Amino acid sequence: MTSKRGVFLTFEGPEGSGKSTQLRLLVHRLRTAGRDVLDTAEPGGTPIGVQIRRVLLDAKNQDLSPTAELLLMFAARAQNVDQWILPALAEGRIVVCDRFTDSTLVYQGAARGLGADMVYDIDRIACRGLVPDLTLLIDVDTETGLGRARRRNQRTQEVETRIDEQCLEFHTKVHAAYRRLAEEEPNRIKLIDGNRTEAEVAADVWAIVETFLADKLAN
Ligand SMILES: Nc1ncnc2c1ncn2[C@@H]1O[C@H](COP(=O)(O)OP(=O)(O)O)[C@@H](O)[C@H]1O
Ligand SMILES: [Mg+2]
Repeated sequence: MTSKRGVFLTFEGPEGSGKSTQLRLLVHRLRTAGRDVLDTAEPGGTPIGVQIRRVLLDAKNQDLSPTAELLLMFAARAQNVDQWILPALAEGRIVVCDRFTDSTLVYQGAARGLGADMVYDIDRIACRGLVPDLTLLIDVDTETGLGRARRRNQRTQEVETRIDEQCLEFHTKVHAAYRRLAEEEPNRIKLIDGNRTEAEVAADVWAIVETFLADKLAN
């Protein structure tokens, strides 16, 4: 990659940790500072990705098999990578994505039990080596996160229920798998305590991103 390549930032964390909230705040702050930002989300993002997302999150689709779920996640991701993310990075923009392959490692690889190897195999095809430069992993107590997500789902039209409604054991596995990832890749993945107020979490997010961008400019 050339030095003109943009920066690829991702948000990760369990349901209700505050990813989408913090992404909005960060994108607003970056744009206010004059940065050219593409914000996107997974599964979803592109118009085709949004159609795939509906299948993935529809509570009626209880029969969706773990392998089909995995391939649909990567189908949405491949579309996002090809149509939006790689072109934006080539133009030197900052791309901020709500979830990426780490989510698939955690949800399909660990919690559904498909294994990390299968996820990495398909990642090679779908993302062709694209790895986030920096990942903001927002950690939250399982009960707190699920409570927030449930209240949000009651309030909004968003169909975000099929995965939220898994049993507590599933969410506990998600939590543990995220913590393992953070331990394995401390340079890329920054763990942030999401049990605090939105403003406190946002201050940490901004401090980490600002330091990262300053270091990148210096190199
Ligand atoms: N730090 C926080 N404290 C309390 N509520 C929060 C906090 N961050 C987000 N929320 C609220 O909790 C819900 C879930 O947040 P959201 O950003 O959608 O989480 P995620 O995208 O990680 O699932 C939303 O209704 C949001 O307004
Ligand atoms: Mg969200």
